Amino acid sequence: MELKAKRKPLAQLPTPITTLDQYIEGLTIEVKRDDLTHFLASGNKIRKLEFLFQEAIDKGCRQIVTCGGIQSNHCRATAVMCRENGIKPILFLRGQKPAFPEGNLFIDHLLDSEIHWITPEQYAQRDELMAEYRLSQKSPDQIYVIPEGGSNALGALGYVQAVRELREQTVLENLEGIFIPVGSGGTYAGILSGLEMLGLQVPVYGINVTKTPHEDFIKRIIDIMGEIQSRYELPLREGYEKRILLLDDYVGEGYALPTEEGIKRLRSLVSKTGILIDPVYTSKCFVGMLDICRKKALKHVLFWHTGGGFSAYAYADRIYKGV
Ligand SMILES: Cc1ncc(COP(=O)(O)O)c(C=O)c1O
Repeated sequence: MELKAKRKPLAQLPTPITTLDQYIEGLTIEVKRDDLTHFLASGNKIRKLEFLFQEAIDKGCRQIVTCGGIQSNHCRATAVMCRENGIKPILFLRGQKPAFPEGNLFIDHLLDSEIHWITPEQYAQRDELMAEYRLSQKSPDQIYVIPEGGSNALGALGYVQAVRELREQTVLENLEGIFIPVGSGGTYAGILSGLEMLGLQVPVYGINVTKTPHEDFIKRIIDIMGEIQSRYELPLREGYEKRILLLDDYVGEGYALPTEEGIKRLRSLVSKTGILIDPVYTSKCFVGMLDICRKKALKHVLFWHTGGGFSAYAYADRIYKGV
């Protein structure tokens, strides 16, 4: 079935799958390498941006506005794609300007992004803030606004498409679970919609890396999936809401605050397999995945590596010390 929206090819696809069958005894982990979607724009966001940029370009936009935390992978990937496509990146970042820009922020600066620093209170009103900014400019029609994480129905189509790609790689049939981090919900909504569309049953475990309770994310994911269904005419099966599986247990003290277990796992995984996970999203997801596999005695799962490696440089001190 053709998707009812156009996509601009930006990422290097298909991303490969690395099979880890020696890392944990008795467990086979297929790693879907979305950390390899692009060098500077690596990670999951570029798949969403393929659909969002197509729309922005079709509308003749010359500037793109988006938002995120200081170490936002989404903002970094958006800024890279802007520069690749002759568009100016404007980022609303939550927090205070640090003395020295590290990790993703370093790249945002290299790309000469226009950065607006906003408080957590302003961030709570981010959609209104970005809409007001757009209207206050001379040519609002030339400004395209992307919501946090690119997580609307159009962006989530990137992961509907990714599931189709995964099916071609023939790893889906024997899987007992797919594991992904959840930060704003769009990736999860896209993956579950993609599986629904293909009539596949494999459980998708979303590891919540924020303090937003999973009930709120479930609502958000249902909204996005509903919109994907109505706007892009993708079929959802009866009771799909009940297949949303989100876990709050692995976030630790909060979003962007690394856990000791996550850092240990990051070091162990990269030193034994060469695969770098990040301290904010994928390491927490990996820890959660191993815990769930142990508790449920799962033997064959897929870890969707959503990237984030550049933020490791912003946490280098803690990673180096291992705590
Ligand atoms: C590396 C990484 N993994 C996972 C996610 C979560 O994706 P989503 O925001 O679609 O839930 C994000 C962004 O939030 C991310 O940057």
